[in-house]
Parts: sequence; structure tokens; C-alpha cells
Amino acid sequence: MNITRRNVLLGGAATAALPIVAAAETPADVLPAVATDVQMLPEGYGKTRVWSYGGVLPGEEIRVPQGGRVRRRLVNDLDQATSTHWHGIRIDNAMDGVSGLTQEAVVPGASFDYDFVVPDAGTYWYHAHNRSFEQVARGLYGALIVEEREAPDVDREEVLILDDWLIDPETAQLAGDFGAPHDLSHAGRLGNFITTNGQPNLTLQAKRHERLRLRLLNASNARIFQLQLSGMEGWLVALDGMPLREPQTVREPIVLGPAQRADVVVDITADSGEVAHVVWIDGSNSYSQVAFEVRDGGTRSRRDAILPLPPNSHGMPLLSASRPLTLRMEGGAMGGLREARMNGEMQSMGDLAAAGQFWAFNGAVGGMEGPPLAEVAIGETLRLTIVNDTVFPHAMHLHGMHFHEILPDGSLGAHRDTTMLVRGETRDIAFLADNPGDWLLHCHMLSHAASGMMTWIRVT
Ligand code: C2O
Ligand code: CU
Repeated sequence: MNITRRNVLLGGAATAALPIVAAAETPADVLPAVATDVQMLPEGYGKTRVWSYGGVLPGEEIRVPQGGRVRRRLVNDLDQATSTHWHGIRIDNAMDGVSGLTQEAVVPGASFDYDFVVPDAGTYWYHAHNRSFEQVARGLYGALIVEEREAPDVDREEVLILDDWLIDPETAQLAGDFGAPHDLSHAGRLGNFITTNGQPNLTLQAKRHERLRLRLLNASNARIFQLQLSGMEGWLVALDGMPLREPQTVREPIVLGPAQRADVVVDITADSGEVAHVVWIDGSNSYSQVAFEVRDGGTRSRRDAILPLPPNSHGMPLLSASRPLTLRMEGGAMGGLREARMNGEMQSMGDLAAAGQFWAFNGAVGGMEGPPLAEVAIGETLRLTIVNDTVFPHAMHLHGMHFHEILPDGSLGAHRDTTMLVRGETRDIAFLADNPGDWLLHCHMLSHAASGMMTWIRVT
């Protein structure tokens, strides 16, 4: 046998004798939170100062394969303390980024190392979680995309982040009063300028018959978007990152509350030379949010049927053995709430309003200081009946675990992290508590969260 020396080294005992060096930890990529000036308004207006991750708007996109690891060193280059929450990720509680609950806020000049694994594929996002009603409204957010192990059959994808800004046209700057009592007690901070990916009129190119995956994300403080497709045919394939069991043909407008996401696969049906649109329906008006200029060159004229995205594997809630709990949302303007507990003491609504608090859950003005809404054992199913006893819509978000909406017939509906309830509506949600830690549950209309609509759940 003619064995070369090299082969002996590779195949023989010599390999095992080599010293084993621990994989060197490269430093985490820096994620700076910085103030930056962007040309958001049309030409002729000045630049607008926003706060952003990485100095771009929207913030730097983070993209990882399913099961991959995200490591970022948040460096606070702002003059206000901040922290970063990874919205929709089934995360280790210590990495959840909630100032005052899972970590201290990161003061100006300081940093914090986030390091976590992403178990589920889908469309997620990250955003500031200290004074969110101000910091998210100033632009501190970005997309967190977790790619499926096997890419779905689309030609390409677009991440489309919608936002609603309140801007003073005279100065081109964000209106400064983030805690305006009227916004807190009514529908939240609604803006006067809508952007997609930081632009008022986003224009993209597409080919006739091209198949695209649109990852739609609503980053606004309070705006609810109704979106319609024009010049394309669409199928809804995921909500809040989680695949639907079956793709649904888009016929009605897609409703996206604050923080919600929708993944839509679309086939461009407009002719070459035409323009296809994602349209925002606002009452009787419709505005193009994204324009796709259509050219020739798409390959196939008939595509295969849309397949569901591969499911993320989750423990299912056990409804027959669930623990029931009610969460009644109260207060706000025209809400009729007279008094509520704050920090354990009963206070009149007048006193609460003076303290900038207008909403309550089960008679208590929320916060992280008080006791949790529930302490749940690992493996328990919690069934929460959410009652919207106010005259405003609310978008309730649970950290750390997705929940199922319960359909009127009692079966499990969409698997989401944010559920929207219009005035007077009641909805049950249920989830298997399988992620230990302290998890926030709050309205994602961020002005509401700041003025009472916040509680938390402890899973042990
Ligand atoms: Cu998207 Cu508590 O947040
Ligand atoms: Cu709300």
C-alpha cells in the first residue's frame, strides 16, 4: 500500500493529538442607536432628524437562517437611555430587551450585548423598548428576518415596513410632544405622513408574471393599515411570522395593526408598462404605498399553486385543561372609568390623568412594578379572554410566546404575537406556557402602553 505521509497525518492518530483550540469568539457586530438626518419629506423640504439603528431608515436589516444565532452589541449613541426588544422571537428572557423588567436601560454611551438563537422562521422585527412611545416613533426599529431552511418558490422578496410619522411641515421635524395627553387617552399618536421603508413613494421594479414574497410590517405607534393589492394576485401565507396552515387568497384588504406582520406571496398580473401597487385604503381614499413598475421578462405565465410555508414546531395549547383568565381593558376618553388602582392604591381618574395614566387592565393601571397578571407553571395552558371595554381599538402583544386566537367555534385560529380588538370586541387567546421568564403583555399602540395598558405574566 502506498500511503503518503500527508494521508497518515490526516487519517491517523496524529489528528487527535493536535491541540484543540476553542473556536475564537469574534466580537459581536455593533448595532448603534444614533440620531441621523434623513430626507424623508419630498424635495423642497428639509431633512428630518430621526433616531435609528445603524444610521439608516429603516434600521439595519438583520437576516439569519432558522436556528441561527443573533449577536449584536447595542451601543447607545443617543442622549436617552434605551434597550432593544426582539419582537415575536421565542427568546431567552434575559435577552428580551425590556427596560425595567428583563434588563436595566442602557444609558447614553453604554452598551449591551444581545446574544440569542432564533427558533422560528418568519418575519419579525426589533425595536426600542424604553420609552417606546417616543423611541419607536422616532424610528428606532428594523426588520429581523429568519429564513426558512428551504426557501419558498418565489423569484424574490421585499421587506416593506410601513410607518406613520407626525411631522411639523414648517420645520420638517417630528412633532416633539410624544406624551401629549390627547394622544395617550384617545387613539394614540397618529401621524400625518406615511412612509414605506422610510420613503413616501416607494417605487420598485417587477416583471410580468414574477412571483414575489412581500413581508409587510407595521412599525407605527398607532396607525391601523388596510392594504389592498392592485395589478397583482396575492395569497396570505403567514401572520406575525407564523405560517398559515393553508395559504389564503387575498380578497379583502389585509388589516395590519401596530406591530403586526403579514407575509403575502403575489404574482404580478399587470402588463408590461403598467404599474402594480400595494394600496393603503384610508376611508374613502386610497394611496399607493408601494409602486411596482412592470416590465417584460418574467419567465412563466402560469405558476404552480402556492404551497404553505413549512410550519414552525410549537407546543400546542391544551384547551380542555386550560386555565381561564379575563383581561378587561378599560378607560381612555369616553371610557367611563372613574377610578383604578395604581401601585396598589385606589386613585381617581383625575389623579391618574394628572400622572399621565388613562387606561387600566382589570381595574389596575398597568406597569411592571405591580404584581404579574398571572403566574403560570411551565406546561400550563393559559386561556385569556380579552374584553375591549373601551371605544378604541387595541393591539395586544405578548412577549416570548405566540398564542392562538380562538375562533368563535372554539377551534384554534391564527398563531400570532399581536391580536387586534376593535371597540367592544371580546377575543379569547390561548398559549402553552413553555418559555420561562417574565413576559410583558401590553397594547402595541405605544401611547396606550405608556399610559396604563401594560401588564406581565410570569412563567416558572
Ligand atoms: Cu413590540 Cu413590548 O413590544
Ligand atoms: Cu391600546
